[in-house]
Amino acid sequence: MLIEGFNPSTHKTDYEGRRLFTPEILIFPTSIEVDTCAASIVAEQICRKPNSVFTLPTGSTPQKMYEILVQIHKKQALDMSNIIIFNLDEYWPIRRDHLSSYARYMRDRFISHINIHHSNWHIPNGEAIDPHEEAKRYEICMRQNGPVDLAVLGIGPGKTCHIGFNEKGSTFGSRVRYAMLDEETQKVNRNSFEQPEEMPHGAITQGVATILEADKIILIAKGEGKAWGIHRTLKGPIRSEAPSSFLRLHQKVVFILDQNAGRLLLQD
Ligand code: PGA
Repeated sequence: MLIEGFNPSTHKTDYEGRRLFTPEILIFPTSIEVDTCAASIVAEQICRKPNSVFTLPTGSTPQKMYEILVQIHKKQALDMSNIIIFNLDEYWPIRRDHLSSYARYMRDRFISHINIHHSNWHIPNGEAIDPHEEAKRYEICMRQNGPVDLAVLGIGPGKTCHIGFNEKGSTFGSRVRYAMLDEETQKVNRNSFEQPEEMPHGAITQGVATILEADKIILIAKGEGKAWGIHRTLKGPIRSEAPSSFLRLHQKVVFILDQNAGRLLLQD
């Protein structure tokens, strides 16, 4: 279901003089349609521009999208050798091969199943001695290889409204940096650690400004747990208290939701 011409902003004033845009919102009956739609957008981008630069997320939401992309790569021989990937974030400190590191997630679910040149895959180094220095290195690396053609995002759980690990309080101008995780994020993400006490309290993340520099952005969200955040993102004021609301300052954003995540929008 496509909600066309839907104007999600109830706040007409610009954010600090910047123009607001109306994101496109796609709401599908099932979550598999969300995964298929997101995977097709990524695959089409690669077909159009084989050396596309991507920002890619981790977490539970995009798992199936990666599975579908691997299938497309194998069954339809989609060449991914020249794409460049910048992951959104990584915990710090964490071993690269830790079962819950995002490096491990990406390698096991995507990178090792496609033909990308491994030097074209970038992710903040969770083993770096100094996370601030690592953030600077990552920022420079993104600038040297950018701009990003397509950024794929998820959204944080509950009331966090985070994108990457830009938690509440992250500014519109924030860049790649070491940031502390919100209490709510820590509570939810701890479940993905076999030993919950091993979960780091911080992460190296692309900043809001870094993310918004992408030419196009898609945000995928599934399930009831994302409904409040999606509604706050699209209907509430654009503020640091909901960093995902800054997406409304970007000209080409598509929200791809299942009907559970879009539930509160549909009720308005
Ligand atoms: P999830 O995480 O996909 O596991 O819900 C998304 C996020 O925290 O950005």
